[in-house]
Amino acid sequence: MLKVIRERRSIRSYLAKDVEDEKLREVLKSAMFAPSSRGGRAWEFIVIRNDETRGALSDATPYALFVRDAPVAIAVCYDTDAGRRFKEDASICAEHIHLEAVNQGLASCFVQVADAKGPHGDAEDYVKGLLGIPDRYRVQCIMPIGYPAEELPEHSDSEFDESKIHSEKLQEPA
Ligand SMILES: Cc1cc2nc3c(=O)[nH]c(=O)nc-3n(C[C@H](O)[C@H](O)[C@H](O)COP(=O)(O)O)c2cc1C
Repeated sequence: MLKVIRERRSIRSYLAKDVEDEKLREVLKSAMFAPSSRGGRAWEFIVIRNDETRGALSDATPYALFVRDAPVAIAVCYDTDAGRRFKEDASICAEHIHLEAVNQGLASCFVQVADAKGPHGDAEDYVKGLLGIPDRYRVQCIMPIGYPAEELPEHSDSEFDESKIHSEKLQEPA
């Protein structure tokens, strides 16, 4: 497990190679194996392969530009009638998606949508308009998925910071 966690990096450049349906299915399966508040499973996932739609999504915020370059993107959505912990549940799903993508030899990056702004104003409203999402749903993020076209160093033990670990009570540095 830690092997995949070490390898997971935010990849923002993708090969022009399609993602196989079977791999995408495994990625989506991982999302639906995520924990959720009160077991609500209020998530909804929109799979976007259409170039034009991904192009428009990449305009949602200044930090979403590369969404256009991935062959597929998943919008991680949430039905607020079915669950109460939108941000937590959706973000955990997104991390499952990211990790299983890496496990499948693919790459991804969390692209923030909720509470973000872009050239069209509120990014979530913009994305909801593009994807025909009714009011009661929220959109946490977009997860582009593709084969990596860049290689970043994996996480290493040098990032393990003992000073961030506290025994019994939080101790601030003297
Ligand atoms: C809540 C959250 C929001 C993020 N939003 C974006 C984003 O909108 N665009 C982007 O390129 N990266 C985004 N990232 C990715 C971070 O920049 C990245 O995780 C961080 O720089 C650490 O790099 P690593 O993921 O390769 O370890 C986001 C990550 C998190 C957890």
